[in-house]
Amino acid sequence: MNISVLRFDTLGSTNTEAANQARLGAAEGLCVIARRQTAGRGRRGRSWTSEQDAGLYFSIVLRPKIDPAYLPLITLMAGVVVHDALNNRGLLPDIKWPNDILVSEKKIAGILAETVETDSGLAVVVGIGINLKANAYPQEVAENATSVEEETDEPVDPQAIVSSLTTYFRDFYDVLCAADGPANIVYEWRRRSTYYDGKAVRVTLDSEMIDGLTDGLEENGALRVKTDDDSVRVVQAGDVERLRTV
Ligand code: BTN
Repeated sequence: MNISVLRFDTLGSTNTEAANQARLGAAEGLCVIARRQTAGRGRRGRSWTSEQDAGLYFSIVLRPKIDPAYLPLITLMAGVVVHDALNNRGLLPDIKWPNDILVSEKKIAGILAETVETDSGLAVVVGIGINLKANAYPQEVAENATSVEEETDEPVDPQAIVSSLTTYFRDFYDVLCAADGPANIVYEWRRRSTYYDGKAVRVTLDSEMIDGLTDGLEENGALRVKTDDDSVRVVQAGDVERLRTV
């Protein structure tokens, strides 16, 4: 994958711009970065606060030639990428299924993967938002959010983070697309996440809540949760929060 980068001062959303570029025929590896977003979006229709230079707002176009059943693994792969890019800056991140990157149990980055139909086939845009400074997130969520600046002693170097992101994207996308790619991505994710198994969680779905202990991932990346009656629920999409035992 050849990486190329388009930079903007202001965009509605880097994901929207990357999707438009994909429809216009952009090759995989095109990255879109903005200093500020006016309509940044998160999962489940939430908005993503995007003050100028407070966060890294990054999207990459992929054109994966994998079995569509494994497309959810792209989010997990991106989690591994962001984990390693932040670890490279001296942080010790965790990954909360499916796509939150935590440091000190607080959210520091999020991932939003979206599919796009294009004339040359299905593309996937992977958007990454990393809190660089404390004004990257609304003060109402300050208890559960953090930023690179707050977690390190050195000044934040966004360019160094972008360069690690693109390097690790190349590496782990190659892993995903190779033979045994899905199993290897699950393996890499498992090595970096305390949420893989034995974590007490509450999963919020559209119409119900499931409490239980995480019990590994399915081969497509879905989360297995063992409930009190020892049955296993398989969660394809939902919000996970950690339950603290007293
Ligand atoms: C989440 O945790 O809910 C996902 C947040 C993803 C935010 C990033 S910022 C860059 C890209 N552009 C967007 O509009 N969203 C993603």
